[in-house]
Amino acid sequence: MNVAVVGTGYVGLVTGTCLAETGNTVTCVDIKSEIVERLNAGHIHIYEPGLEELVQKNRAAGRLSFTTDLAAAAKNARLIFVAVPTPELPSGHVGMQYVNKVVDDIAALFRHATPGKAGDRVLVLKSTVPPGTNRMVTDRLAAAGCAHVSVASNPEFLKEGAAIEDFMVPDRVVVGVRHPAVGAALRELYQPYVTADRPLVEMTPESAEMTKYAANALLATKISFINEVADLCDLTGADINLVRKGIGHDQRIGFQFLAPGPGYGGSCFPKDVKGLIAVARRLGMTLRVAEAVDAANDVQKEVLLAKIHRHFDGKLAGKTFAVWGLAFKPKTDDIRESPALTLIDGLLVAGAKVKACDPQARANVEKIYKDTICYANDPMDALHGADALVLVTEWPEFRGPDFAEVKRRLKSPVIFDGRNLFAPNESAVRELGFSYYGIGRGN
Ligand SMILES: NC(=O)c1ccc[n+]([C@@H]2O[C@H](COP(=O)([O-])OP(=O)(O)OC[C@H]3O[C@@H](n4cnc5c(N)ncnc54)[C@H](O)[C@@H]3O)[C@@H](O)[C@H]2O)c1
Repeated sequence: MNVAVVGTGYVGLVTGTCLAETGNTVTCVDIKSEIVERLNAGHIHIYEPGLEELVQKNRAAGRLSFTTDLAAAAKNARLIFVAVPTPELPSGHVGMQYVNKVVDDIAALFRHATPGKAGDRVLVLKSTVPPGTNRMVTDRLAAAGCAHVSVASNPEFLKEGAAIEDFMVPDRVVVGVRHPAVGAALRELYQPYVTADRPLVEMTPESAEMTKYAANALLATKISFINEVADLCDLTGADINLVRKGIGHDQRIGFQFLAPGPGYGGSCFPKDVKGLIAVARRLGMTLRVAEAVDAANDVQKEVLLAKIHRHFDGKLAGKTFAVWGLAFKPKTDDIRESPALTLIDGLLVAGAKVKACDPQARANVEKIYKDTICYANDPMDALHGADALVLVTEWPEFRGPDFAEVKRRLKSPVIFDGRNLFAPNESAVRELGFSYYGIGRGN
């Protein structure tokens, strides 16, 4: 099938590349010419494991190309995917300016086109958009004389760091359509990716839009819940790692998204929980659970800093902290809403210095902090002369350091472990004389 993908970020680039991988002819569009130039040179501008190789393979096969020219990409495309940002506005509402721009550009392109049958040309909303957007976009196209372009909702559930696997072998594909022919076009496209166990679930656009928000809000709820239980463990002397085992083996509960940490970040959970709250408020409803999840996360993002303040008696001025992990989670370079940034801000406000290290996210962090903090490529180099090690993101390369060497390099043997990564080594760490603080492991 001939497909266009508008927006070549974490979602659009993965979508376009994975659709090309199963034989579709895909043209990806971005407004940023530097991104397109880089992609046309065979290099990707984000970090996602395995993606660069897959882009190169499909470019070489002639199935995948990149352009800034929406008209050229959309002209022969049966499906036009919209994967542009939907950022959080200061009010908490979802910013629709990028989506609206694409819709208006598409309307201008096809206003005078000969109308075909339903499903001949479909605008597929893959960006995460509030319930009601499909209707709004349909009306906007109709008002611009483009009622013959159908609108489908196809929210994306991929995880950064495992995005290719998630797209190629999805737990499910959700499509929201108003016309069976539009559903049929999407079924044809997704046929290579779905099975009876991993189905394509067809529903109304409103239900598809709500499904995406409900999924992210529920996952965020699990995280905020276990984080609060962990904070209570700190006060009661219980060990959250044992509590997690105790509850996770219950098949009704499971282990996923029940690892305590320094709060959830990324480009999705924070903004989607807030977006859902804002949608409900606009309709006169208060989402008490989602509001509590959001508020609990704000508190959790301060938890490491609070532990640091307590250990050093509030005297952080002039002290240096080695921060391991800057991305909001491992295997991505994405730092949007990362708890590491909240920590660094707090340390700098308190007059402390920061030596930061991350396998992939350094360049993105440097754009924000420039020379107000120091950077190290090697985690062990970040420790030289630091007063403590603070682990924020559980990259595999941080998992098993030589703790004796860590102690030699640090000015004082203190570890704040925001992911309980060193829990298995905790007794060895204590034997070496470290002060060790995890999350929910007792103070
Ligand atoms: N990142 C994730 O893990 C994830 C997962 C599921 C859903 N989503 C949703 O998918 C959407 C995209 O997220 P992302 O992380 O890929 O964003 P991103 O910021 O990484 O990429 C968006 C791209 O769109 C481009 N763009 C903006 N306006 C454009 C236009 N008019 N024409 C062409 N290109 C344009 C930008 O230049 C950018 O490269 C958001 O709604 C997000 O909530 C993201």
